[in-house]
Amino acid sequence: MDGLKEVVHRPVTMAAWREGTRDDPEPCREQDKGKFEVVVRDGRARIGRLHTEHGILETPALLPVINPNIRTIEPREMWDRYGIGALITNSYIIWKHDELKTKAQNDGVHELIDYPGIIMTDSGTFQSYVYGDVEVGVEEIVEFQRSIGVDIATMLDVFSRPDMVESEVANCVDETLARAQKSIDAAQKTMLNGPIQGGLFRELREKSASEMGKFDFSVHPIGGIVPVMEQHRYKEYAKIMLSSLPKLPSNRPVHMFGCGHPMLFPMSIALGADLFDSAAYALFARDGRLLTPWGTEKIANLVDWPVTTPSIASLTPEEVRQMDGKERTKILSKYNLEVTLAELARCKQAVRDGTIWRMAERRSHQHPALREAFLWLITNPSLGQISNFSKDEMILDEKLASQETGSEKGAWETSWDWIVKSQTTPRKGGESWGGKDTLARPHIIAARHMMFTRWHSQNPLGVGSTDVLILHGRSGPWRERCDNLVTRLIHHAPGLEVMILTPIGLMPYSLEDVNPFTHIVGPDWIWRSRPDLSLIRNELDKFSMSDRRIITLDLNGDNLVERALSKLVELEILDESIKSKSIEASDFEASQLQLRRRKAADKFALFFNVQSELSHELTSKSNFVINRQGRIKNVLSSSNKHLASFRLGDGGLSLNNDGAIELYSHRRRQLPTAFSDPEIFGYSGEGLAIVVVDDDAEPFIRQGRNVFHGFVIACDPWIRPNEACLIVNQRGELLGHGTSQCTSSELASFKKGIAIKTRDGIKNE
Ligand code: GUN
Repeated sequence: MDGLKEVVHRPVTMAAWREGTRDDPEPCREQDKGKFEVVVRDGRARIGRLHTEHGILETPALLPVINPNIRTIEPREMWDRYGIGALITNSYIIWKHDELKTKAQNDGVHELIDYPGIIMTDSGTFQSYVYGDVEVGVEEIVEFQRSIGVDIATMLDVFSRPDMVESEVANCVDETLARAQKSIDAAQKTMLNGPIQGGLFRELREKSASEMGKFDFSVHPIGGIVPVMEQHRYKEYAKIMLSSLPKLPSNRPVHMFGCGHPMLFPMSIALGADLFDSAAYALFARDGRLLTPWGTEKIANLVDWPVTTPSIASLTPEEVRQMDGKERTKILSKYNLEVTLAELARCKQAVRDGTIWRMAERRSHQHPALREAFLWLITNPSLGQISNFSKDEMILDEKLASQETGSEKGAWETSWDWIVKSQTTPRKGGESWGGKDTLARPHIIAARHMMFTRWHSQNPLGVGSTDVLILHGRSGPWRERCDNLVTRLIHHAPGLEVMILTPIGLMPYSLEDVNPFTHIVGPDWIWRSRPDLSLIRNELDKFSMSDRRIITLDLNGDNLVERALSKLVELEILDESIKSKSIEASDFEASQLQLRRRKAADKFALFFNVQSELSHELTSKSNFVINRQGRIKNVLSSSNKHLASFRLGDGGLSLNNDGAIELYSHRRRQLPTAFSDPEIFGYSGEGLAIVVVDDDAEPFIRQGRNVFHGFVIACDPWIRPNEACLIVNQRGELLGHGTSQCTSSELASFKKGIAIKTRDGIKNE
């Protein structure tokens, strides 16, 4: 995986840890300063790189808060021992204290706090929230931050509290907006934070995000959330994220101002947060409180540590309790920082593994308020629209969670869409069952939606054409157990559609190896429970097959073929005589070829968005290369051109040059000329999405090199991350094909990083 190669800040080596020294960072390239690129994504979660003069920060990252007056852990130690690439301090405190101010102005802020990495400064807004007003001017504080050489400064925004009424919050939003351009002018070339305010009001958060996004800020912190977190109002926290983030330019990192409790990391990262800052590690330590991924614990009550970390490994809680105040605070601060960094590392690995949502789901059980937030996310009214599970199917005893959002029905739809549309599917590996929450995982919703919109029942009118046979009772893979039966049925009952009932919904038999449907890892009973006819009917409705008669067949037990045939005879779909007849070898072979073609056609429809009739036409004369296990490896055209390959790991389909040329020849739609909003689930049957690239990129792409951001001129609205796409020049000539890393709005906004991973280039004749 690419992410693994992307280690930016050198890990702290053993020698550095022992000696307490680590090399200073290299500045980024001048032309990259302020740019943010994404190197790995998992839905909205991303591993990114923020380019600055004091190094490239790998995100998600925690910026510990340093109070220039009280240093609990030395910033130098944070750099040397903890490998912390960026921290945040307060420019207003420095500005107010003459001694600090003079030193900062003479030697720079890096020297002042003795830290070689990236320094972000806040502006005094938080002090105005805590103490009332601040005396500093809007331009003055930004100019000051620039003058002391900070890497990322913050404008003086107006803090919106959760207890404010709508008109008060509107004033905070408007006043912050009114200060934006002045602050940007004052910052000159210094990167600037543009905080989003809006209290608990969805429309005001949306307004703040879309309006602030129009200014030339480098980072967008989400402001006004400290009291929300202090009061454990995590549902409101999630709502704030979902109303702000979709409106922000996707190429800028999002910073959760004042969020540093590890318990909130997985959900925040899954919803798109890139940066965190917190004084919690030190503040909690002062009160003898310990941070853990599942909440906060008091050292007063402990015999054993909740988590073992290097700083307390040789000490017991009792020994730490006996220490004097300063020493105790220091050691507990280190402990808190170590626990926080460890949870952040787990989150980053989960993003790389494609499991961040599952991690957020698991962590949601750790705290009732977090669970409430998570339930709100997965049961909010928009979910019914996009998931296509009815709410009753989704929620058993947790129905209450969504009731209060009823009055806002529809309001959150676009936010949930925004999460689902950024998911990659199919993925490799098992999908571990987590109860009903599993059904609400955004990538599962995306996989189901793709199937509903792109797959169509294509059976010829023939025996059984008004029926559907539902196989149930066992987990995949099904081919070894069922291919023989399905092949026979193609021969005897050519109109009969065969589908499989999985714990996450129905799927057509032809797509039996497609992840995640095939790879649900869980207890046996999730497969064995008796098929629920109303659920099946509901599912068939999504496939526009609600008029079919449902026939169920339990895959447990022997003599599958005989049992199936008997059932079909009983229902008078087949004639009694079928039972005594065996199938001719030539008929079996012909049906087997038909089944393979059906599998190929349905994968073309699902993964290349090819219209059903066309995918059947393209594969109606296709041949196959079969591997030693009897599985399809390559799909060949009638003239033996290699069109595509079946991916055995995730059930997907990989395109080849001849396939790209063939599919492009069927494109009827005009080339895109701009970037429109992502419409990933629209445009069904319109074929592979196209990206149009700049002429400068053409020779590189023809050689098979990747397409970088900045070279894409336009794309189709249905382009999806991790899905195949065609690359053309402005004259419409096919240059190659690859896998998109982005949605269309991301392609429109990013300036750095890989836009399309090119699979192959098409050479000039
Ligand atoms: N620190 C915590 N919250 C905020 C906020 O809303 N604005 C600023 N500037 N700093 C903060």
